[in-house]
Amino acid sequence: MRVLPSVAFVVLAVTLSACSGPDPAPATPSGTTSGTTAAGSTAPPAPASDPAGPTRTTTDLPAPPQREPRPAGSGPAAAPPPASSAPPAPAASAHTDPVAIDVVVNKRRPLTPLDYAPADLRRPDVATPTGFDLLRPDAAEAVEEMFAAAAADGVGLAMVSGYRSFADQESTYAYWVGQYGGPAGADTVSARPGYSEHQTGLAFDLAQADGACTLVRCFRDTPAGQWAAANAADFGFILRYPLGFHEITGFSAESWHFRYVGRDVSLAMEAAGTQTLEEHFGLPAAPSY
Ligand code: DAL
Ligand code: ZN
Repeated sequence: MRVLPSVAFVVLAVTLSACSGPDPAPATPSGTTSGTTAAGSTAPPAPASDPAGPTRTTTDLPAPPQREPRPAGSGPAAAPPPASSAPPAPAASAHTDPVAIDVVVNKRRPLTPLDYAPADLRRPDVATPTGFDLLRPDAAEAVEEMFAAAAADGVGLAMVSGYRSFADQESTYAYWVGQYGGPAGADTVSARPGYSEHQTGLAFDLAQADGACTLVRCFRDTPAGQWAAANAADFGFILRYPLGFHEITGFSAESWHFRYVGRDVSLAMEAAGTQTLEEHFGLPAAPSY
């Protein structure tokens, strides 16, 4: 009999076609938190635990929308700078080529075409306990280098969700609509098909090799989550959905979702302390569709 890697990954493999790391998200109107609901009811449960993840059971649903705390001084500016000092806005066509590594995909910037599929996907030579194990070549090479560096530091990593097709994302989004009972909650943790970075082949969801906290909020406190947060930029990756920036990115924090942007961009963002791709490229925030 085949020995499976871990309980978390077993459940993950069964359900990942319908989900990818959702975040505990913030989607309720400002500053509110949802109340507790008995498991099994039609309403989502209390937000005390992490949001949803494929590791959850049907009676342990994703947390409902919950406003995240915004780290002091790290949020978006309260007001835009005077027009005279503002940098020129990028052309509307900027960062829209889905093949380019500077493509920006968010709720206001769908992929074009909506069912775009990369032509050059490959499987990185790293631990991939689920079937979603493809990436674009540059991202795959960077993942291999990053995982090797983590291993040298004694941290075991795994990739649990790389490329997802338009059809995969349809299933993923539909899963979360079902879990939340509608699109309002689902939209805080899962992109609609045609609007997911996973469809570019440039993003992946990271897990710890032992499956601890896979795709749930506590991942950020694991050795894997902390190592990746500190080192991913050296390999050309950014944490795409940082805590407290949902009003720009459109999604609640995902401490496991990394996006390949190349070292020029990742290191520039790190040096400047810029948290989101939208801010780095001077693009509008995308809090909603
Ligand atoms: N969970 C991210 C936002 C996605 O579905 O692409
Ligand atoms: Zn992801």
